[in-house]
Parts: sequence; C-alpha cells; structure tokens
Amino acid sequence: MCGIVGVVGKLNTKEILINGLQKLEYRGYDSAGIYVNDGQNGSLVKETGKIKDLEKIITDNISGEIGIGHTRWATHGKPTVENAHPQFSEDERFYLVHNGVITNYDELKSTYLSDVKFVSQTDTEVAVQLVSYFSKQGMNTTDAFKKMVSLVEGSFAFGLIDSQDADRIFVAKNKSPLLVGIGDGFNVICSDAMAMIDQTNQFLELMDGEIVVLEKNVYHIFDKDNKEISRNSYTVDLDPNDISKGTYPHYMLKEVDEQPAVMRKISEHYLSDGINVDADLVKTVSESDRIYIVAAGTSYHAGLVGKEILENLTDIPVDVEVASEFGYHIPKLSKKPFFIFLTQSGETADSRQVLVQVNELELPSLTITNVKDSTLWRESTYQMELLAGPEIAVASTKAYTAQIAIQAVLAKVVGTLLNNEQALNLDLKEELSLAANGMQTIIDEKDMLKSLTHDFFENQDHAFYIGRGVDYAVSIESALKLKEISYIHTEGFAAGELKHGTISLIEEQTPVVAFINDPNTAEHTRGNIKEVQARGANVLVIANEKFAYSDDQIILSSINELLEPLISVVPAQLLAYYASLERGNDVDQPRNLAKSVTVE
Ligand code: G6P
Repeated sequence: MCGIVGVVGKLNTKEILINGLQKLEYRGYDSAGIYVNDGQNGSLVKETGKIKDLEKIITDNISGEIGIGHTRWATHGKPTVENAHPQFSEDERFYLVHNGVITNYDELKSTYLSDVKFVSQTDTEVAVQLVSYFSKQGMNTTDAFKKMVSLVEGSFAFGLIDSQDADRIFVAKNKSPLLVGIGDGFNVICSDAMAMIDQTNQFLELMDGEIVVLEKNVYHIFDKDNKEISRNSYTVDLDPNDISKGTYPHYMLKEVDEQPAVMRKISEHYLSDGINVDADLVKTVSESDRIYIVAAGTSYHAGLVGKEILENLTDIPVDVEVASEFGYHIPKLSKKPFFIFLTQSGETADSRQVLVQVNELELPSLTITNVKDSTLWRESTYQMELLAGPEIAVASTKAYTAQIAIQAVLAKVVGTLLNNEQALNLDLKEELSLAANGMQTIIDEKDMLKSLTHDFFENQDHAFYIGRGVDYAVSIESALKLKEISYIHTEGFAAGELKHGTISLIEEQTPVVAFINDPNTAEHTRGNIKEVQARGANVLVIANEKFAYSDDQIILSSINELLEPLISVVPAQLLAYYASLERGNDVDQPRNLAKSVTVE
C-alpha cells in the first residue's frame, strides 16, 4: 500500500527511483509518479496503472541529483493522474509524496487554505499546500514543514522537496513506515529497505513524530520536541537475490516452492542444539491465563490454526481476534493476558492500533513477523522472526505456513515447561521435516494440479471450501487465496454448517473442495460431501493418506494432525495460482489489493 522512495546526491536519480518503485510494486498500487530536480528545473511525471506505464512517458532529458517517487493505492479520490503523487503546491514550488491518511484534512483546508485552488481530491494535497502557506507567511522551509507536520493528524510518511532549494529532502513519519538509507555521498528514503538495498545496506530507524532533513553528505534528525538528536545506522541483512524472481514466471509460484526450505530453516534456527527461544518469553507466556492472537487476513487464518496448536500443547485458552474489530471492541480481558501479533509485514495498521493499546495497558506481547525491525517488531515486548525470506506476491503463502510453524515452536517450548504431555511427546523437529517432505510431494505434482484446476474451476463463478477443525481453518484460508487472485467468489465453510442455509447455493457443477484430515470428523465430512454431491456439486477431495478413498483427487502424507495444515494448504495455494493464471489475471498483484496495509 503506497510506496515512497527518494534520493539525494546521485546522478542516476531517475533510474534509482524507478528501480526502487518497482521493488515496492508488491505493496499494491494503482498509479505512480516521480519528481526530479537538476538544481535549475524540476520535472514531474505521473501516470495511472503500472510503473511500466510511467516509464513510457519519462523522457531522456529528465535528470537531476535529487528526486522523490511514489506508488499510490487510492484512498481519497480515484486513481487518476491528478490524484497520483507527488502532489504539489499551487505555486509549484513544493513537491510531496505521502503514505497514510490525514484525518483532519478538511478542517485544515477550511482553516488555512480557503483561498487556495486544489487540483486533486487527495488528503495529501492539503499537506503540501500548507507548507507553501507557511512559507509565504515568512517561515523557512524547515520550519514550514515542521509546522505542517505538527498540524496534521492521522498516519503519514512524508518526503518533500523545495524546488527553490533543491538539495534537501524533508522527511517525517507517524504510524506509516519510512526508512532513511545512508550512502557514501548520497542518502535515500524508502518505505521498505528492499527498495534501496542495491544502493546501501545502512539504514536509520525513524520514530513517530521525528523529522529528518536529508542532504547528500549529512542528515539532521529532530525529535518530537524539535531537539536535534543523533542516531547510529544499522545494517540490513537482505540479499538482493532473495527479492528477484529468478527463472520463475511469478513470485507466488517461487514462494510456494520455497516452503519446504522455510520449514527446514525454522527447524534449524529454533530447534537445533536445544531450543533457541527467549527464555523470558517462554516464562511470561506460561504464566499467562489466556492468549489473545491478533491479526488480519491470511495471518488471522494462521492464528486460527495456532489456537488449536497452542491450546492442545499448553492448555492455556486462546482467542483469535480480527485486529480491525478487536481494537475498537476490546472484550473484558482475562487477569493475566498475553498478546501475540501475527503479521507478515510487521506494519499492518489494524494490528498496530491494538498493540498501541496493549502497550498503554502495560501488557506483555509478542510479534511474530517476517520483517525484523518493522514497527510491530520494535514496539512489542518480545519478537520471533518468521525466517521465510521476503514475500513479494500479494497472496501470502510461505509466510502463512511459517506463522503456523513458529506458533508450533512456541507451543512446544511453553507446553514443555508446563509439563503438558502432548508437548513433551511432540518431536517437532521431526514433524517439520515430515511437513517439508509432504509439501515437496505436492509441489512436485504441479502438472496434475494445473489440469485439475482447469477441469474444476473453468467457467465457474462460485466455489466452496469445506472442512472441520483445523481443516475448517485451512478452508477459509484456501477460499481467501482463490478469491483474491482468481476473482472467483469463494466461501470457506465449516463442513457441518453448510446444510444450515448455504447449501441452497449449490447447483449443478458448483465446485466444492473438501479437506479430510481431522480423525474425529473424517466420516462426518464424508457425509457432507454426499449431501452436496446429491445436489449436483463437483467435489474435489484433499485427504490425508490415513482417511483417503482411492478416488480422492489429492492425497497428502500424514504428520501430527495439528500440523497437517502445513501440507494441506499447499494444493489449495496451487489451485488458486493456476485458476488466476488461466483467467489471465495479474497473479502477483491482484486488483484492488495491497500487500502491506498501512491504513486502518
Ligand atoms: C493484506 C494482505 C494479506 C495479509 C494482510 C495482513 O490484506 O493482502 O495478504 O494477510 O494484509 O498482513 P500482515 O502483514 O499483517 O500479515
């Protein structure tokens, strides 16, 4: 969701901006733009659609040592050229990129800017017009920028250039992510280190409310109280090869294929030579009387599987909460709650607003994320890294399975401390190794899955996934995967619940995918399959070898039943991938979606 890049002090500014924006494409966007200044003249280029559309209209004569760029995911105003960023002031002196939502923009507009002619419908334009307004009141640009930042409410990451003094980028953030990268004779800004890792691996963490003035050889950081402070950079350990597609046609396919390796990496990191989990974290969780897992989207679905694993292995009750709901309707909490934030990106605004409240209540929390040093990582009491490597495709795959595996690691160590018999008996290292093998067997069957997808989903507008227990959790994740990238309307259902209403939607040839991995309910789900088949449904069964019938289409190898989702979700990921491909959709960047959702 909205990506920001900027550079000062490099001759090939234009190329660096475009390259950086391409690296941020994964976040989701619907228009893009750059502003470059050569010290005399500035050039602004904006376009709707993709970066490749923007590139087509960038002419060779655009050059300069300073520039900012942006990918916009529309919130206020449609995805048009006027609404794309950079936004500029009426006198065309100031250029601004923004990520986030300014909540009081209407009020600021009527208080300060009633005489200004606006050209866009964005909240962002108010911010840049305000800088111009305060500059006309006699303030220098630094003070005008600071004044604007002090007035805006909501979430923001800003990068601003003053075309009359074009050797500095003015930077600020609140809630939205933004990093400053430090180079030799140049400096950069970006929403994600990935965008600039080919320029530098030295980055500065920015705190909410801070302001940075960035020149090519120097930077000044001002804290909330306007006091200049110093801060050391840290090294980002990111291999540029990890963020390339290699020979794969899509990131999603690469990321599905990487899952067995991720399982092995997690096992090696957390379970080799004893157990490598923060002892203080384990103690705190073991002393809690209830665990609240807070997450959004696919991470929420991973939390539903985590609940089963944690409750079985620790005997501590677990609630799984949708972050955007929980934050505004906090239930009566238990006496000693422990919070787990599951978030691939570590930046999801819905989850973060809950963490802010949890911190205000001084309650302990753990963030499980793929992005070390992300906002939720920094702000929680404890941290565990997913170790999945960068996930670029919007549809989350390897982060989902890594989230399940990490929750299993936590459950195993906490349960062992609590003398839980299931935890004591679980050889998690062995199970993760079996999971990796089981995943690989499915991945090796891609051709079969491709042709099943064709036979099953061709010309279908609706589909269902059904299962019970952890299979139900996998059903709703599988349904999400299919709908988000194929645009087939899909519902995940508890198999036994379908007959209580929704079965009325089953028609001749309606696709129903059924998971059968739960020993307690395998036979019941078979009964539910018969019910939908009797009404014409075309059923595809994904079953564990222990309960499979000879005519089931996909048979999975068997591991500990709580961990079976690690394997059973993989065919569903591939069905979604091939359905999207077959329909000619943009697999990695589906319409309307963003990878990192930094607004509530
Ligand atoms: C977005 C993404 C989903 C993701 C969700 C939560 O909606 O498109 O794939 O599951 O955000 O993201 P998080 O980074 O918190 O896991």
